[in-house]
Amino acid sequence: MSVREVVIFPDDRLREPTHDVTSFDDELSKLAADMFDTMYDDEGIGLAAPQIGDHRRIVVIDIPDDQDRQHINPLILVNPVVVSHSDKQVESDEGCLSVPGYQGKITRYETCSVEYQDLKGNHLKIENATGLLAICLQHEIDHLSGRLFIDYLSRLKREMLLKKYTKLQKNRG
Ligand code: NI
Repeated sequence: MSVREVVIFPDDRLREPTHDVTSFDDELSKLAADMFDTMYDDEGIGLAAPQIGDHRRIVVIDIPDDQDRQHINPLILVNPVVVSHSDKQVESDEGCLSVPGYQGKITRYETCSVEYQDLKGNHLKIENATGLLAICLQHEIDHLSGRLFIDYLSRLKREMLLKKYTKLQKNRG
């Protein structure tokens, strides 16, 4: 297990297409373990494979409980798909490990249901997720379509952000 480098916006790897996982082997388990290590190292609550430069459809999530503790219900979702959602939308104040130092308000569906597989390939479903889990599921599954939460911001806000990050990237060399 190891902490991997997080791909930072506007890196193209965050926009590349992903493909379904078809081999449920040790290598996949290792990828999931690395994703958790990387996510915890960066104090995140969710991470999608493209954020460490891998383009398999896999997401890890660990929503803290009401005492802000993690490691209680960590989730690994392989080939996840949002199969239904509420009509109602809610405001969501989001950040992303690939867009460090930035938070923005967007809207998300209030509830959603997600079908996915586990590391062994078993088919599972989360029915009517609510609250932070619902938001996080939508955010991470968006990553698998090359979509970032900042894509939902107004054009003006997005352009300001792009300028800031392009500059940061140049300074890094
Ligand atoms: Ni993200």
